[in-house]
Amino acid sequence: MKSLKNKIVKEGKVLSNTVLKVDSFLNHQIDPPLMKEIGDEFAVRFADAGITKILSIESSGIAPAMMAGLNLGVPVVFARKRKSVTLKDNLFTSSVHSFTKNETNDISVSKEFIDEDDVVLIIDDFLANGQAVLGLTDILDQAGAKLAGVGIVIEKGFQSGGKMIRNSGIRVESLAIISSLQNGNIEFFEEVTVS
Ligand code: G4P
Repeated sequence: MKSLKNKIVKEGKVLSNTVLKVDSFLNHQIDPPLMKEIGDEFAVRFADAGITKILSIESSGIAPAMMAGLNLGVPVVFARKRKSVTLKDNLFTSSVHSFTKNETNDISVSKEFIDEDDVVLIIDDFLANGQAVLGLTDILDQAGAKLAGVGIVIEKGFQSGGKMIRNSGIRVESLAIISSLQNGNIEFFEEVTVS
């Protein structure tokens, strides 16, 4: 997606050979018109998939997921990482280890909001090692829901998550795939669509 790549080049800050900071439009301040464009692009790519629900994970997955849900006319559920006063029982839970942050979070989704009739699109902001996506697919398996695919705003193609998830037969649509952050330069792979 050209406008997204332009934004990444213009505003992204390379913090190391593996970490890109995009706090000005995705992870802290949010750019609503860009999020709308991102949501519309996911909606186009998954238009024929029969999506009934979008599943994301707090916090930065929520904005792009919301915009896709608005376009597709389906509800958006986000997995919670923290315990909630109102969300204690009747939960699907999974454990997600972050290699980037070196921490493990239990994520939860209420059984009220996903069931075996759902066809679900997972949306997240970053795909690095794929652990968040694995946790979300585990929750869908527990619910007996069907996974239609995964929509990612920025995939770090030099890390293992994208390959692992595609190799398991899951459709992954990433709007920008970074091939390298070496020496402070942001480089992209050409867009690929793998079904
Ligand atoms: P994985 O799910 O693909 O295995 O990712 P990983 O554990 O490596 O990433 C953990 C957190 O770090 C996630 O955010 C992810 O979005 C974020 N992250 C990973 N690599 C980058 C990067 O290069 N740049 C930025 N900006 N973020 C990165 P999170 O903890 O869920 O945070 P948030 O959603 O609450 O913002």
